[in-house]
This record gives sequence, structure tokens and C-alpha cells, in this order.
Amino acid sequence: MVSYKELGLVNTREMFAKAIKGGYAIPAFNFNNMEQLQAIIKAAAETKSPVILQVSKGARNYANQTLLRYMAQGAVEYAKELGWEHPQICLHLDHGDSFELCKSCVDFGFSSVMIDASSLPYEENIALTKKVVEYAHQFDVTVEAELGVLAGVEDEVSSAVSHYTKPEEVVDFATRTGCDSLAISIGTSHGAYKFTPEQCTRDPKTGRLVPPPLAFDVLDAIMEQLPGFPIVLHGSSSVPQEYVDMINKYGGKLPDAVGIPEEQLRKAAKSAVCKINIDSDSRLAFTAAVRKVFAEKPGEFDPRKYCGPARDLMEELYKHKIINVLGSDGKAE
Ligand code: G3H
Ligand code: 13P
Ligand code: ZN
Repeated sequence: MVSYKELGLVNTREMFAKAIKGGYAIPAFNFNNMEQLQAIIKAAAETKSPVILQVSKGARNYANQTLLRYMAQGAVEYAKELGWEHPQICLHLDHGDSFELCKSCVDFGFSSVMIDASSLPYEENIALTKKVVEYAHQFDVTVEAELGVLAGVEDEVSSAVSHYTKPEEVVDFATRTGCDSLAISIGTSHGAYKFTPEQCTRDPKTGRLVPPPLAFDVLDAIMEQLPGFPIVLHGSSSVPQEYVDMINKYGGKLPDAVGIPEEQLRKAAKSAVCKINIDSDSRLAFTAAVRKVFAEKPGEFDPRKYCGPARDLMEELYKHKIINVLGSDGKAE
């Protein structure tokens, strides 16, 4: 058993309370490799933003859970080396799908876990979430739960249609489970194709797809039921068109990729939404930078020469999100 406190990590309780009060949101960035982690930590350290490092079940399988944990521990030291005196870094399990997986993360030094039982019937979601909460809280590990189902594939938790969170259920759910934060469904979804072209309109000037707005009325109704309760938005990548264009220009094929417009995320960040999950945008930045190097320098075979530019572009992306979208810069001096 390793306590996250010994690793210099923090849970989400204080982060979220301050974010709600201050009208900003904490960035939750997924990582699978060293370059992503370096870019996240550099961006957070330079902007003095609290940050959540997210590890999915897929990331654990890809990179090895032991290595990822030590990388997160190393990230705290790296942040200090970069001059961030009191780093506020949370290590979070993204989309945990079983009690055993959540328990293993709690036992292994994670400071926060998500139990995603949103695809189960309501009472089963409550029972499993409650079980995880009871275990995690013994060690002061915070728990995110999910109510409502996002469209698309959620790390092996899948649903073909989007079911918005029902505001009339949230008080009962939060009270009976004791969860610390609640991921809701208001129209976001995972990946780089969040909406079909049929769901969008087209900007006549640029020909780009314009997605339908998020269901802010549902968010408002949830906040009315649970005043001041931490709300989480998954599937919040914006799918920046400059990265999509770069990928397509240098031999990729991402037709009609579309995400959540940043102004909608800015609006959400000012509300009780205090954690915004971003993964796909970082994948797009990485891929765009690597494709550019491969296309322009076909003789290059030193991975540092293409992973380096990818890391730089991701760092720029993370800083942009922190400063211009979530407003979390300067909140962890
Ligand atoms: O919610 C999904 C995250 O983007 C993680 O994706 O399961 O491919 O690691 P992954
Ligand atoms: P995106 O696919 O929009 O980046 O969402 C990531 C996410 O929700 C991770 O849990
Ligand atoms: Zn997610």
C-alpha cells in the first residue's frame, strides 16, 4: 500500500472547492508516455496551474501501471525542479470500470479515481460507486462518478446513443453514493468525431462544420439541484482545425473531425464545472507535429527529432487550454 501523500500528490477536494469559488476549471489531461507528461508538467509549472494527470485503463495496459505511477511521482519532482515550489498535481484513474481496478489504483498511490458505472442500470451504478467511495475515502482518495451516458466509446464502456444526465436523479445519486464529483452528459463525447455532419451546420465561408451547442439548460438544472457540487465534463477536446489541417496536409485522413467550441468550454469553466477532460487534442497535436517532420524530412530516424517537436506543440496546446479556456493559471502559486 502506497499513499499518494508520500508521493507529493494531492486529491481533488481542495482543488475543486477553489475552482468552483473562483469560476475556473482544473485541466485533466490524459497521458500515456513521457513526452505527454513532460509537456503537461512544463505547461502547469510555467502557468502555476493545478493539474490532474489522468491514466485510463488503456494507458495502464499500454505503458505499465508501475511505470506510470513512478512517472507521476517523478513529475512532482520535475515540477519542483522547474521552479514550481508547491506543485498541485493529482494522479487520477480515468474511467475505472470495476471495484478491483479502482482499489488497485488507490492501493498504488493514485490520489483520485473515477468509477464509471454509467452504462449500468441506475441502482447498480449507485451500488458500485458507493462501494468504491467507501474504500477510497478510508485513504482520503477522492472519487468521481458518472451519471448519464456519453455518445461514443468510453474506454470499453460503450453506448451508441447519448443520454443526457437526468437532473431529477442527481441529488439521490450524490447523496446515496457519497461521490466527490459527478461527470455528466450534456452533449460532449470522446474522440475527434464528436458530431456527425448531419448533426452540424456548415459555415458558408469556411465550409467547416459548426456543431450544435451543449445542453446548458441541463447543466443549469443540475446545478440548481446540487448547488456548489463539483461537476466534470468528459469529451471536452475542441479538435483544433489547425491540427486537423496539418494532419490532412501531411498525408493523414481526418475528414470532418469536429469538437466542442472553446467558447462553450469557457462558459462551462465559469460554472460548477470544475474538471474538464482533454485527451484527443493532445493526440492530434502529437500526430500533426510528427507527420510534419516525416513529410519534410523523410531521412529523419532519430525519435527525438520528431517526438521533440510533438512535445513542444503539446506544451503550447496545454498552456493555451490553461490560460485561454479553463482560466486555471496562477491558481497554484
Ligand atoms: O475517455 C477516454 C480517454 O480519452 C482515454 O482513452 O482509453 O484510449 O486511453 P483510451
Ligand atoms: P476527449 O476525447 O474529448 O479528449 O475526451 C477525453 C476524456 O473525456 C477522457 O476521459
Ligand atoms: Zn472520458
